[in-house]
Amino acid sequence: MNEPIRPEAEAKAQKERQKENMPLPWDSGEAVAPAPDTARRLPGEEQDAGVMQEIKVRVHRQLLERLNLSNIDALDKAQVVEEIRKVVHDLLAREATPLNYDEREDLVTQILDEIFGLGPIEPLLQDPTISDILVNTHRRVFIERNGRLEKTDVRFKDDRHLLQIIDRIVSAVGRRIDDSSPMVDARLADGSRVNAIIPPLALDGPHLSIRKFKKDVLSAPDLLRTQTLTPAMLELCQGIVKSRLNVLISGGTGAGKTTLLNMLSESIPAYERIVTIEDSAELQLRQPHVVRLETRTANVEGAGEVSQRHLLINALRMRPDRIIMGEVRGAEAVDMLQAMNTGHDGSLTTLHANNARDALARLETMISMAGLNLPEKGMRQQIASAINVLIQVERLSDGQRKIATISEITGMEGDIITMQDVFVYEREGVDEGGNVIGRFRATGIRPRFTDRMLAYGIKLPVSLFSNIDA
Ligand SMILES: Nc1ncnc2c1ncn2[C@@H]1O[C@H](COP(=O)(O)OP(=O)(O)O)[C@@H](O)[C@H]1O
Ligand SMILES: [Mg+2]
Repeated sequence: MNEPIRPEAEAKAQKERQKENMPLPWDSGEAVAPAPDTARRLPGEEQDAGVMQEIKVRVHRQLLERLNLSNIDALDKAQVVEEIRKVVHDLLAREATPLNYDEREDLVTQILDEIFGLGPIEPLLQDPTISDILVNTHRRVFIERNGRLEKTDVRFKDDRHLLQIIDRIVSAVGRRIDDSSPMVDARLADGSRVNAIIPPLALDGPHLSIRKFKKDVLSAPDLLRTQTLTPAMLELCQGIVKSRLNVLISGGTGAGKTTLLNMLSESIPAYERIVTIEDSAELQLRQPHVVRLETRTANVEGAGEVSQRHLLINALRMRPDRIIMGEVRGAEAVDMLQAMNTGHDGSLTTLHANNARDALARLETMISMAGLNLPEKGMRQQIASAINVLIQVERLSDGQRKIATISEITGMEGDIITMQDVFVYEREGVDEGGNVIGRFRATGIRPRFTDRMLAYGIKLPVSLFSNIDA
């Protein structure tokens, strides 16, 4: 943060350097210093990271001289890996620096990651406990684990090395990144979402953000275990979905909106035809009858964009029983509300907002983006009649995810949308370890939509809503 912004001349020189195509992507071309005399190393002592890096550069270079890897994609991978492993071990045996077995194996893995994977961040990609990988120039790599950001000691050799890995990702999906298009969204083969932004837009160097694709999404038992909600709240949520109420989930980034949307969707009966619309496919529904739609961004010439709005209009012609929109962000909110109001009940969506009131205000803003020039009251009526339930999710300071409120939208009073909370999470304090302490509470209000639930044969016990600890 407190690093000076690189002067323009240096930025230019940097760009020039990026353009050059060095034989070894992660080698800046600087002369490699001779390996320091490490014979004095005590037994069991680990090699210095700098020394290891130098050996890696040298051995990788020798490997490329020894093996022709240009047609590597056409070869049998297991065989190539075996061959590379043999050659690298052979080359390492000739190194003056003594390495123990673990260090040699480590280098072999790192070199294989350079050739086949995403270099130094490959182990992070393989680690299922990591949800996000954030690379801020070659010097800093952060990860998110269990909702908390941590700094790692992973580094790229230099920005050229990082740029090379970014290039590998984006060229695999037919995109490019350079001065003329310095930011790109892409996706890895495993479904992980990637954003890359480079100078001149990113002032300090290339940045790479990876939101990893969750192979096993959290389902109801997991959310109970993490105390995101209580069994009573879960029962209510399941009833809400089964009785085809329209639900809006709101929360901040990473609060768990998509996770909750996915969990709620589990309660949709298997015989229904579900159409999902997303900017970036994340939902993983287990029902047999699901149509998954995903938007497309414009190409370099600015053509070919297919927005959520387009997809929603198309979805309405596909005879859906339910429409699930991953997240409303703009004008498509109008069409979503209209669909909810005209017979496509049981629809689910999410929105980015910090509290329930704010969520409604955000919806209004989105409606005005559609340019229909609806009066304020008209917009609010549209919202109040479309949405039945608003669920607010929160990420607490310690990383815990909580359902902060489950509220019923009851209608309008004058110009104001009325709603009532059915369940709330009350924060009580923080313990010595920084963990938030709090409890869920039923407000004592029995929502009006329980009548509708009854019509669907869902009878919730009255005690579920009584004003006790939920
Ligand atoms: N209830 C939860 N308990 C623990 N981790 C959660 C919970 N909900 C979400 N997460 C984790 O938080 C991250 C972000 O969740 P996601 O649902 O994508 O958030 P959002 O859609 O609000 O941005 C994911 O790694 C997810 O596994
Ligand atoms: Mg999301």
